[in-house]
Amino acid sequence: MSSKRSTAGSRLWTGGRLATLAGDSGWGLVEDGALLVDGGLLRWVGPSADAPAAEEIIELHGALVTPGLVDCHTHLVYGGNRADEFEQRLHGASYADIARAGGGIRSTVAATRAASEAELLAAATKRARALMREGVTTLEVKSGYGLSAATEARMLRVARQLAGLGVDVRTTYLAAHALPPEFSDADDYIAAACQWLPELHAQGLVDAVDAFCEHIAFSPAQVARVFDAARQLGLPVKLHAEQLSDQGGAQLAARYQALSCDHLEFLSPAGVQALAQAGTVAVLLPGAFYALRETQLPPIAALREAGVPIAIATDHNPGSSPTLSPLLMLNMACVLFRLTPEEALRGLTVNGARALGLRDRGQLVAGQRADFCVWDGAHPRELAACFGHNPLIQRVYQGVQGGS
Ligand code: NIG
Ligand code: FE
Repeated sequence: MSSKRSTAGSRLWTGGRLATLAGDSGWGLVEDGALLVDGGLLRWVGPSADAPAAEEIIELHGALVTPGLVDCHTHLVYGGNRADEFEQRLHGASYADIARAGGGIRSTVAATRAASEAELLAAATKRARALMREGVTTLEVKSGYGLSAATEARMLRVARQLAGLGVDVRTTYLAAHALPPEFSDADDYIAAACQWLPELHAQGLVDAVDAFCEHIAFSPAQVARVFDAARQLGLPVKLHAEQLSDQGGAQLAARYQALSCDHLEFLSPAGVQALAQAGTVAVLLPGAFYALRETQLPPIAALREAGVPIAIATDHNPGSSPTLSPLLMLNMACVLFRLTPEEALRGLTVNGARALGLRDRGQLVAGQRADFCVWDGAHPRELAACFGHNPLIQRVYQGVQGGS
């Protein structure tokens, strides 16, 4: 890739193979395509031969261009690690066994509470940079390892600071993740978590509210109380639903017009219909499915048939999905869940954005944000077919080349 002039202002990337993902299906391929960028937005997308003039021309030499990747589900801010639990699971303990014995999320809560804000930021910065090196331009980060007003706020502040790296960060309040050790009654804890939310929201730290609805976490009735608190503040909701069992979480989330339901291995036919009617995105997390050696597949065919938008994400966290590779998730979504490569890439771009309530990104279409990736490849299916290999040449964030 070479640049002819360095004047600020409009820039034309030309001579690329564009996978625009325009419309609801198909790759939207433009062979020998160009993108005009100005003011951080895509102003024009089409064949290079028809491209308008620009102050600067950047030659792509046939490289592949896709929208920037949107990782819509991560737990990127935390202290410690849980490789010990990886070994325990190899010896036969299940994720739920470890959680019930006080490990799992609660072990990360202890390590996160013990870490300073600076330590959390340093660790999360390395992780965010790793995601960015594989093309992530929008990143969601959940709280949920603090589980007190002060430590949830600390996590959310750290997450927000990651935006300084040159990535758009969305923060999600996930206090209803696990019961902290100082509470013995889950209902009392839920009441506290609902009380903390308005202040965190007033500080501008919360874009959405999430909960973990599961037999090892919180019941649908408890989650409903959290969602009511979100609704009072006008905040959208999301849900960790039907990961280990069918709790009817999807139906509950749909009643609150949730942006997304995530995991969904045990999603029922009624849950699929509820998501379809509410327009809720199904976020599939192949990293957690793989690492926990799950065998129950999410109901992909039923989701497709019902027209539920499917997103995929890393679910980066120290326990169930300690991956920092969105590209590996593309491959796993195809190999493990049988998504098509196009469905997988839509899942990590336009549908990932939709799972965050964002409609201004995820496709290479005039008017969208100029967040895109330039790859060493001839066809976008190569991104899903290969694994353990990073073909990113250039990551462009709001029209600025960030490098790989
Ligand atoms: O999305 N399922 C609940 N929450 C996370 C895991 C958190 C953890 O194990 O630390 C998830 O997989
Ligand atoms: Fe998660």
